[in-house]
Amino acid sequence: MNEHPCVDWPELRRLAREATTRSYAPYSHVRVGAAALVDSGVVVVGSNVENASYGLTLCAECSLVSDLIRHGGGRLVALSVVAGDGEPIAPCGRCRQVLYEHGGADLVIDQGEGASLTLAELLPHAFGPEDLPTRSTP
Ligand code: THU
Repeated sequence: MNEHPCVDWPELRRLAREATTRSYAPYSHVRVGAAALVDSGVVVVGSNVENASYGLTLCAECSLVSDLIRHGGGRLVALSVVAGDGEPIAPCGRCRQVLYEHGGADLVIDQGEGASLTLAELLPHAFGPEDLPTRSTP
């Protein structure tokens, strides 16, 4: 359940839905918007930005991480990602890894209807920044 005390889930969902209206998706026509609460209290947003090459498309979550860094960084606490129909859409595999860097295992992701999943559930046994120091060859 969505039980994080400081998270206004309806507001995050509203901002994510609003962000779908500023998406650039002329190829798939799948508009995606994302909004997240940062541990600083700031809310960051992002929209998908497609490309004629298809493969260079930026997902809404990647745009959101860019917004996070532009606002001074911090840890992502709670995230809503929705498609143009306003309903939650699952972050793709690449985005799960990108989100892990900035939210870690405890990032809570809206699943709609009061449900949520942690990033640990969406990306179990993740590889992250904490793995690098112990695994580098001298
Ligand atoms: N998309 C996202 O923005 N985030 C995801 O996690 C899944 C997919 C976008 C990329 C592309 O513009 C469209 O959805 C269809 O794949």
